[in-house]
Amino acid sequence: MALFKNIIGLIFLLLMQVSCSSDDNATPSLSAPLALNPSDITQNSFVANWAGVKDAQSYVLDVSSDIDFTSFVEGYQALSVNGIYTVVDNLSPSTSYYYRVRAVNGTAESSNSMVISLTTEIPDGSVLKELTQDFFIGTIVQSNRMTGMHHEVINREFSSITAEYEMKMNIMYPSEGVYDWTASDAIVNYAVENKLNIHGHALVWHNATPNWVENFSGTDAEFETMLEEYVKTVVTRYKGKITSWDVVNEAFNDGSGTYRNSVFYQRMGASFISKCFQWAREADPDVLLFYNDYNMCSDQTKRDAVFSMVDDLISNSVAIDGVGYQMHIAYNWPAKKDIQDATQDILDRNLKVHYAELDIRANPNNDQSTLTDARSLELKTKYKEIAELYTALPTVNKYALTIWGLKDNESWLLDFHGHIDWPLLYNNNFEEKDAYYGVLEGLVK
Ligand code: XIL
Repeated sequence: MALFKNIIGLIFLLLMQVSCSSDDNATPSLSAPLALNPSDITQNSFVANWAGVKDAQSYVLDVSSDIDFTSFVEGYQALSVNGIYTVVDNLSPSTSYYYRVRAVNGTAESSNSMVISLTTEIPDGSVLKELTQDFFIGTIVQSNRMTGMHHEVINREFSSITAEYEMKMNIMYPSEGVYDWTASDAIVNYAVENKLNIHGHALVWHNATPNWVENFSGTDAEFETMLEEYVKTVVTRYKGKITSWDVVNEAFNDGSGTYRNSVFYQRMGASFISKCFQWAREADPDVLLFYNDYNMCSDQTKRDAVFSMVDDLISNSVAIDGVGYQMHIAYNWPAKKDIQDATQDILDRNLKVHYAELDIRANPNNDQSTLTDARSLELKTKYKEIAELYTALPTVNKYALTIWGLKDNESWLLDFHGHIDWPLLYNNNFEEKDAYYGVLEGLVK
């Protein structure tokens, strides 16, 4: 009995099929295929996939290098395919492509599927600096970390360097009237010899102020004269060699956005910022001048305070070329949207954006004792997101994406937070981590 029912059912279904297909032209409701993710992505090809549509006799595939389908890949504009996948080849490496597909039955054609996007594989042996044609990709140096593997990796992958701590006031100007250029000269000369861009960091920072300045014995007017002489001396010394300076670093308090009560603020009031910018500009008319700070994507009050200061500089015709966002972030914080919104504040003023000091904590809650595969991939995703966001900025607003260190065990964060983490692109043996490939992938998007 069951068998008999099944046979009847089958005959019924077959009849339905025949009647439906004979009727198709009268039924223009051929549904759009569900486009599926591509498979077998290589440097030059991929397989486009989609789910079959009832009543479709064939499919039509479009592949384009833009999301609006205005520049079709040759041979892939309305390509007829008799199946639910096809190989798309003769493509360029590290390039984004988009595909969509329609179902066809006789003269009836469905609407387009959703658009699927993908990026072809990055060629083996790709390096970061080859993928950053309109901005610098930077790392940090110490004067005693510029040989061996450090030298090799810096020069293979990066196009820019920043001194991690040796171009700060406490090192360059250790006692009144006595400059010490040993380390800063070595770093600047290294950049020049290796044709690396160099970003100066940082002229004025409350956390790297020499004791004699903290305890300055003279009057406020003498303090100001001393600071002017320092800013002009340093900027003049490296004029023509250094592309950019962080003139003032971290002048605002977290949360409240009030001025940080540094010795500079105490002695000169808020005007120390505009004066330092002016002095730097007088010393070098061509060097790019940045204001640099942290938590800029997560602390709206602080950010508003920074931009109100920046707007004052602009409206008083004080030279400022860009704003650096120290990207000391975590794999899960801040959200992409917050980073985009914060970056828009720089774009709105048509200034240059420096994603400075990028390191991404993989262990912000100190609940991991090793970097697990899962967390390593989360870290990669966040690195990729940052690289993608930076790459997508208008060329005129780009300057540099600077990563704050090479190897995990050299990261300042280990001391700063006092626990283990893996925030950088290389492990302790200088091997490329997933995070490295995240940046590489983000740069080609
Ligand atoms: C840190 C360096 O990484 C350390 O080596 C140094 O001891 C202290 O400064 N914000 C900045 C950077 O602007 O200069 C800091 O660098 C990290 C926080």
